[in-house]
Amino acid sequence: MIERVLQVPLWIRLWHAMTALLFLVLTVTGVVLHFAGPGLTPIDYTLATKLHDVSGIALAILYGIHLILVFGSGYWRHYIPAHQGLWSRAKAQIIFYSIGLGRDEPRATTSPGESRFNALQQLTYLIVVFGLVPLLIVTGLLYLYYPAYVPDEVLGLAGLWPVALAHYALGILGTAYLIIHIYMATVGPNVRSSLQLMTIGRAEPAQKR
Ligand code: HEM
Repeated sequence: MIERVLQVPLWIRLWHAMTALLFLVLTVTGVVLHFAGPGLTPIDYTLATKLHDVSGIALAILYGIHLILVFGSGYWRHYIPAHQGLWSRAKAQIIFYSIGLGRDEPRATTSPGESRFNALQQLTYLIVVFGLVPLLIVTGLLYLYYPAYVPDEVLGLAGLWPVALAHYALGILGTAYLIIHIYMATVGPNVRSSLQLMTIGRAEPAQKR
């Protein structure tokens, strides 16, 4: 059987590169804003606030364009895992990442259908792209444009606190995702082909891991 060369469209690569950059800026400036105190700011507080706000707005605009293209082109199908045997494939993939990868074992699972992602990648990208990122953006924009769209009071406390708490919790989840995602991009037999795919857009078929 002739295996086809894997390809990733330019617009996905551009979205990914810009999102990665903005996410890194947002993570660093978010940490600075959260832990800032007198004499405890690695970069100027006002500069960090500006950078965080501008990057957040840029991420929101980029996400909107990406959403139109993802749904307009049908690319969203790559992120939807097939229902049949989903949990057993995801479980096998977790065991592979935890034990098999270190032992150089062959790939754990493949996804039925067109997608080049394994079940765990599909589930993760689905949650991150269509859940975590939009929620981060919405809470961030509410925070930024408070008090225009946020009630004055919630449970007797300032209306901003549920938004601030949600944005903070989502930020922690986003940071955890980023660390794990970068780590996964740098281990295993497919590092070269994954990086080629997300930069030049083409790579030889690699093991699905
Ligand atoms: C410096 C930061 C990042 C690096 C080094 C990185 C690296 C990579 C690599 C190597 C892949 C290819 C995986 C494969 O096909 O086997 C990938 C895919 C992907 N990454 Fe990242 N990434 C970064 C940041 C992010 C961020 C912040 C997000 C959050 C939205 C993200 C979301 C995705 C998605 C959705 C895919 C699949 C794209 C597709 O449809 O082909 N990445 N990343």
